[in-house]
Amino acid sequence: MSLSPTDTPQHAPEHLHRAAAQYGTPLYLYDAAELDAALGRVRSAFGAARVYYAMKANPNLTLLRRLQAAGVGFECVSAGEIARAERVGAGGETLLVNGPAKSDAEYAAGARLGATFIVDRAEEVGLLPPHSRALVRVNPALDISTHDHLATGAAHSKFGVTLAQAPAVLQALREAGHTALGLHVHIGSAIRNAQDFTAAFARLADLRAETGPLAVLDAGGGWGLNADLPGIAREAWAVAEVFGADLWVEPGRYLVAQAGTLLTRVVGTKHTGRNFVLVDAGMTELLRPMLYGAAHPVSALWEGAEETVWDVAGPACESGDLLARDVTLPTPKRGDLLAIHEAGAYGAGMSSNYLTRSRPAEVLWEGGELKLMRRRETPEEVWAAEEV
Ligand code: LLP
Repeated sequence: MSLSPTDTPQHAPEHLHRAAAQYGTPLYLYDAAELDAALGRVRSAFGAARVYYAMKANPNLTLLRRLQAAGVGFECVSAGEIARAERVGAGGETLLVNGPAKSDAEYAAGARLGATFIVDRAEEVGLLPPHSRALVRVNPALDISTHDHLATGAAHSKFGVTLAQAPAVLQALREAGHTALGLHVHIGSAIRNAQDFTAAFARLADLRAETGPLAVLDAGGGWGLNADLPGIAREAWAVAEVFGADLWVEPGRYLVAQAGTLLTRVVGTKHTGRNFVLVDAGMTELLRPMLYGAAHPVSALWEGAEETVWDVAGPACESGDLLARDVTLPTPKRGDLLAIHEAGAYGAGMSSNYLTRSRPAEVLWEGGELKLMRRRETPEEVWAAEEV
């Protein structure tokens, strides 16, 4: 069994077997205690900062309801996400509406629910509903230590206004009768080097002479699972203090990744130039390895000496459909259970119906019980919106 590099206590093997037997595979299983622990770590590091969960990481209503009950707000980037926030009772102070290309419907829904808007470009000042509350997203134009698809604070990424534009956009908001709450920065996701946060915050602090004091500094999310949260929090609070502002944060991955495990069963093996273990989950259930080259820890839930190096491949007719590469496992046989860890963020939420595959069930392990969070789709549901 390979250990998670983050050393998070994982589900006990007997829970994993029980969940797979009861709900079938592929299956997403979440651990309620780890969900609570992650929020606890965020709260103890960031103190009085207001927490907005970036629900794109995992929008399941069960998770949203738990977070909402714990006093967490939501960052939403689509009409659908706003509808989910409304469904669990968020609005007003607990709702942020963000996105680089908001639709009329998204402005209207945000306004109806009293959300704060994150302005991503100067032209949005004229598009906001009257008397909106808004933050201005700033792109600090740095080299960000993550996969290029996950870097949002690089000069070439599409997000935010430039440092030079930011003070004028705040002023334009005020002149248009909106409430210019402050600045927002989110430099990317799964950031490897904490210095990136330090550099981004320093660039924002440099704007103080031009912006004057502000009510809110939103430091975004992007923390890797091994991140030094107290260190990032210290830096974020320091820049908030430069502006005399309250601190808001928007973690996604950090709150849900480690709680989630993708369970998949071995279908068979194949030896070509490489050793493949074929499993019943793939790119349709967990796209991250294919899209970002993400390495999720994998553990075998069967016995045997670990002697062979395997690639874990899914059932899709695409050669990129691999869940892991070069993992050492005991010799697998059909029906064996494999666990893919740190899959709670951007796993189920990015699963697709490609190949008319049903998106998997999701289950919560809480207080010694398994609770269904989402049942497995049927093929009829996959094509329900289509005409024959
Ligand atoms: N705030 C904003 C404005 C964001 O765009 C995001 C993520 C977050 C907060 C939360 O970031 P986190 O704490 O989760 O890193 N699909 C990719 C991740 C894309 C993240 C997009 N924005 C993945 O699977 O790694």
